[in-house]
Amino acid sequence: MQTTLGAPVAAYHLGFTSLDRELSVDALPVSGTLPPWLSGSLLRNGPARFEVGADRYHHWFDGLAMLHRFTVADGRVSYANRFLRSPAFVEAERLHRIAYAEFGTTPHRSPLGRVAALFRPATGDNANVNVVPYADGYLALTETPNPVAVDGVSLETRGVLHYDDAVAGQITTAHTHHDRSRRATFNILIELGRTCTYKVVRIEDGTLRRTVIAELAVDEAAYMHAFATTARYVIIAEYPLVVRPLDLLLQRKPFIENYRWVPGRGTRFHVFHKDGGAAAGSFEGDAFFAFHHINAFEEGDAIVLDIAAYDDARIIGDFALDRVRDPHSEVAWPAFRRFRLVPGHSAAEIESLAPQTIELPRVAGRHEATAYRYAYGVDTDGSCGIYNRLVKVDLTERSTVAWTAPRAYPGEPVFVARPGGSDEDDGVVLSVVLDAEAAASYLVVLDARDFTELARVHVPHHIPFGFHGTFSS
Ligand SMILES: [Fe+2]
Repeated sequence: MQTTLGAPVAAYHLGFTSLDRELSVDALPVSGTLPPWLSGSLLRNGPARFEVGADRYHHWFDGLAMLHRFTVADGRVSYANRFLRSPAFVEAERLHRIAYAEFGTTPHRSPLGRVAALFRPATGDNANVNVVPYADGYLALTETPNPVAVDGVSLETRGVLHYDDAVAGQITTAHTHHDRSRRATFNILIELGRTCTYKVVRIEDGTLRRTVIAELAVDEAAYMHAFATTARYVIIAEYPLVVRPLDLLLQRKPFIENYRWVPGRGTRFHVFHKDGGAAAGSFEGDAFFAFHHINAFEEGDAIVLDIAAYDDARIIGDFALDRVRDPHSEVAWPAFRRFRLVPGHSAAEIESLAPQTIELPRVAGRHEATAYRYAYGVDTDGSCGIYNRLVKVDLTERSTVAWTAPRAYPGEPVFVARPGGSDEDDGVVLSVVLDAEAAASYLVVLDARDFTELARVHVPHHIPFGFHGTFSS
């Protein structure tokens, strides 16, 4: 594809292009047939503005957060989208420049401003990674500790929430794990200092108080986008992408560029009991990198960890905006890798699964942290530098089914169970797809059993490629 200026752009470049328009629509056009039982709201989060005034964000993960809501009710699908009014967004609007540091971008600062930032590091709470139910609304999440509360219907920002505790830490994950039986949420918090500390925190439902249930001191902190839980355990996979804390505090470079790939460290797995937090073992494996755990569960005394694993951390640079917009650049792809942590063995065992690529992995909600058969995700058919297939991996049959459409670029698939259904894949998969031909996006509804397409819900604009979302009925 050529622009009018002659510069080649990727067919999917629109997915990395800003969307400024905020809409609220009562009924979107639907082609096909929605399952009559499907009722509820899909909320999605992701970056949607990649420039502010003359400033440019450098990385896909940096763009200003926008929430999207699709609500299925009475055979109609309403839609709304709204920027998160985070400090990063509000200051960008006010100053017409990038005001806060992001994952791969640092704002221009005067020398005095740099000194001030050193003593009072500020975060813009640009929570563009995930969105989870909270109270009567939702929380938008990123990797700085404070979540941002939003209204679940209007998507209006209610404000940055501050925890009701004195737990110190500067970095967290946007992939919290809610534990229904314990009525609590688990997360990892990292405190940077002379030494660094990984903290396993637990937040009881209905509170904003984090209790540190386990701590692990390390000399250099690893970048961890997510972690795993099983029925009884929290598992941290510590990849050898590490940072000296002082390098981060000095803010000479964008956040992630301070991290160094040190493959000689290998990957370390640390296991803690959910109840009480006692250490339950550490294991070692070869160096690799991942954003996402696919799932984890216990098998006898062993822990099985399924991870979307990259051979190294090159993928982070691959997602720089000038790279992903370049039709000639290729991104690294992660493999579906299974690790088994067995008590008494210090080495994590690797089991080769089908040579399957998977990213943005999800499983059925009731199979999270427990034994499961099916994983859903995105991958590529090899013809394209970004995701262009939705996949369902059957771990019993070791087989995969895929959904594709011409010039279609899907995002994270979210499984919604059919009420009353008992089979793990009895339900639908929802994914926001960029239609490069139409220069707009649609929500595709697939039968999760065989991936046949049931319906498309057409959005009147493109939705920039986002990250994660949640369905609530
Ligand atoms: Fe993620």
